[in-house]
Amino acid sequence: MVQTIRREDYRAPAHLIDEVRLEFDLDAESTAVVNTMHVRPNPAANGQDASLFLDGEDLTLVSVALDGKPLDESRYTLSQEGLLIRDIREPATVTIVNRFSPAANTALSGIYVSGQTLISQCEAQGFRRITFYMDRPDVLAKFTTVIRASKETFPVLLSNGNAGEAKDLEDGRHEVTFVDPFPKPSYLFALVAGQLVCREEKFRLKDGRLANLSVWVEPQDLDKTEHTLESLKKAIRWDEERWGLELDLDDFKIVATKDFNFGAMENKGLNIFNSKCALANPNVATDEDYFHIESVVGHEYFHNWTGDRITLRDWFQLTLKEGLTVFRDQEFSADMLGEPSARAVQRIKDVISLRAAQFPEDASPMAHPIRPDSYQEINNFYTMTVYEKGAEVIRMLQTLLGRDTFRKGFDEYIAKNDGSAVTCEAFLEAMTSVSKRDLRQFKRWFSQAGTPRVKVRSNWNEEEKKLTLSVSQTTPSTPGQPVKQPFLMPFPVALLNGDGIEMPVKLEGESGAGVAGTRMLELTENSQEFVFVDLAEKPILSLNRGFAAPIILDAGLTREERLFLAARDGDPFNRWDAMNGLLIEAVRDETRARLLHEPHDIDPRLLETVGAILKDESLSPAFKAVALAMPTEKIVSETLPVIDPHAVHAAWVAVRNAIAKRNLSAFMEAAEKNVTPGEYDPSAEPAGKRALKNLALGYAIAAGNARATILVKDQFTTATNLTDKLAALRLMVNSQTPAKEDMEVDALKAWAGEPLLLNKWLQIQSTASSFAGESLVLERVRELVRCDFFSIRNPNNVYSLLMPFFTANPAEFHLPDGSGYAFWAEMVLELNRINPQVASRVARALENWRRYVSPLASRMHDALESVYARREELSPNVLEIIEKSLN
Ligand code: ARG
Ligand code: ZN
Repeated sequence: MVQTIRREDYRAPAHLIDEVRLEFDLDAESTAVVNTMHVRPNPAANGQDASLFLDGEDLTLVSVALDGKPLDESRYTLSQEGLLIRDIREPATVTIVNRFSPAANTALSGIYVSGQTLISQCEAQGFRRITFYMDRPDVLAKFTTVIRASKETFPVLLSNGNAGEAKDLEDGRHEVTFVDPFPKPSYLFALVAGQLVCREEKFRLKDGRLANLSVWVEPQDLDKTEHTLESLKKAIRWDEERWGLELDLDDFKIVATKDFNFGAMENKGLNIFNSKCALANPNVATDEDYFHIESVVGHEYFHNWTGDRITLRDWFQLTLKEGLTVFRDQEFSADMLGEPSARAVQRIKDVISLRAAQFPEDASPMAHPIRPDSYQEINNFYTMTVYEKGAEVIRMLQTLLGRDTFRKGFDEYIAKNDGSAVTCEAFLEAMTSVSKRDLRQFKRWFSQAGTPRVKVRSNWNEEEKKLTLSVSQTTPSTPGQPVKQPFLMPFPVALLNGDGIEMPVKLEGESGAGVAGTRMLELTENSQEFVFVDLAEKPILSLNRGFAAPIILDAGLTREERLFLAARDGDPFNRWDAMNGLLIEAVRDETRARLLHEPHDIDPRLLETVGAILKDESLSPAFKAVALAMPTEKIVSETLPVIDPHAVHAAWVAVRNAIAKRNLSAFMEAAEKNVTPGEYDPSAEPAGKRALKNLALGYAIAAGNARATILVKDQFTTATNLTDKLAALRLMVNSQTPAKEDMEVDALKAWAGEPLLLNKWLQIQSTASSFAGESLVLERVRELVRCDFFSIRNPNNVYSLLMPFFTANPAEFHLPDGSGYAFWAEMVLELNRINPQVASRVARALENWRRYVSPLASRMHDALESVYARREELSPNVLEIIEKSLN
């Protein structure tokens, strides 16, 4: 039975747990827990319910005692959901003994086995798979954790807080006690045991204290931990300097594991990472990996304040810690880049991923506000909306209030709420109190789903030299929300003259001279007008600069004007956006023309603009690489009313080839000018050169240039960094070079022993294109699933092979006969039995089936129905996705 949980049904807990002592006897097959809780009725609950409910899942109960005495069976009831103990009206000590099996835990939630190591993951509701507990974020307790285990099998034992006494026991076992001084909810509990080694360093904090930082891994990974530790030190320093927040612990540990359901977890003082988000060296990590690791290490570290010290009242508030912490990690990454053009490139990449993944979610049957109103399975709501759109909402607040006021509000939020479990209101109240602004309209961003459409039309009055902007906003209806109210959003605007220079702007009714630069407007109504006066000439509009508001903008500009912006806009984000919009439009027009069998030529001015950007000395290679990259087929499809993946693919190839042919010599020049010899350096500047070089090589190969093919083959064998090596392999795999098979086999042989590399290899396979006469990618993927180097139990294998095939290779997945969908259904059902969280992510690949052309849509629907037909065996995670997709 699947239950819908509603935000409005929140009730304060009937009891509180002040302290808990957990004693573990670890064993991979069967672990025993003695759990002693100091429980008391919650005064805030007014004694309405005297029953103590403890969540428990897949546990074996051994005994229950109350104040040291075994409890009569009539006092408690054990169910699938947990343990109910009646009549706890006074403070009491509840002692529970239970067992569970880490080895049988394939869901990777609770405590499970990774190789020889035991790893925990508790957020959101994994703690109940360890012991019976009030597994909810608003119950904060002080934890003491005693771990006993075989010293040979588990020489290293870790948990939250400070390690107290350690001692050897009889029969080869040993014991360590950890005391965590900070009260915390159970989702922040962590335990790790295994044959681990660490890189550690003493680091001086701002207040002079020395903190011991350490990164724990299996021995073969020790040579991949330097960047992790360096990133952690940068994050600690940055949080001190930018937000005045210090590390509150003497010991801060990071653990990396190859078996992990998502990126990483902010357990108090003991962060646990998926190895792909933590481990790097030049042989196993690309430029992007280095960058990503720095940002995830930052993200988890920043949670120590925004998440751990101030936590959530209930799971509906998830964006309070996640949106805010993503915003913080984005700011961290930007500050580490420093230089404005590099920062702009980062902003561009963040927006690309928002558009590629969050916008479609906001337009899907799973659409939900950043603070949802209901869910069936909370693990389905760790979404792009809660995280990335949540971060955009926080960013808008900073834009609206200004950095200084925002910082004051942030300080007030921390000061007022430290040590408690709160709601999103706490953040908005702090911002309201320091800014004295009424933020009630802004709050709609927390409750309304859907991406707002903003439409701008302008009217130039030549006699009066004034420009009227008519701006309207609408937000499409989403499940459960047919009608939307207008949002308050920042809308920075610049008016450019014929040289691309920002003109002085002055709104009607304002006195004095206009000020040149970006003008901040605020949108609040369904439709509004802004009248700019005293303009020397008819301006060209640069709107929503820096992507201040996360909207879909219809600026009403002519192609001429957009070409102008692509060549001249001084706001790097908008310059990129203009170029990107032109490329999307070119593929879209080409798609339409092909479907209608009409002749179509790509606008020569677009082809020329590509060349002009390539040759522009004032632009960084990194910027050129993002500006000239083809928008993905997925991004193009998002802008079409009906998606025909094959038509889009053919159009995409045609546009890319036309760009490549027209600019071949410029691409070859860029490829040769941007090599990065010498020792590998993952920083932004050389990384940008590599990105441009590899992009240029891709175009040159698309243009059929033989020299480019030779260069790329050469690069594959001589590359001294993984970025170049992988780029070369990918280009070859996606070409028709006969040599590609040998390269694939060579790479597989060299990489099979290193999970990080094997996963990259798998991803290249699953996102490849098949050419006439070659086997379909579907067949390759089917074969690979059965190979012994692939394990469907390993989330990273699934995320590298299956997910990209289902979501990032539309032309190969959406086969007209529906065989791709049948394979998807098989995989969802198989994963459902093993790991519901991973299964439900994979299940989401078909949620937007309604948007596809007719035969595909109905075949996708059939596949969804075929999974739904087995609903009796579906986990709540998968069932929620399938039901919502079909509704
Ligand atoms: N809190 C973790 C983070 O840093 C992610 C936890 C994801 N948990 C889940 N059940 N999906 O973002
Ligand atoms: Zn997070």
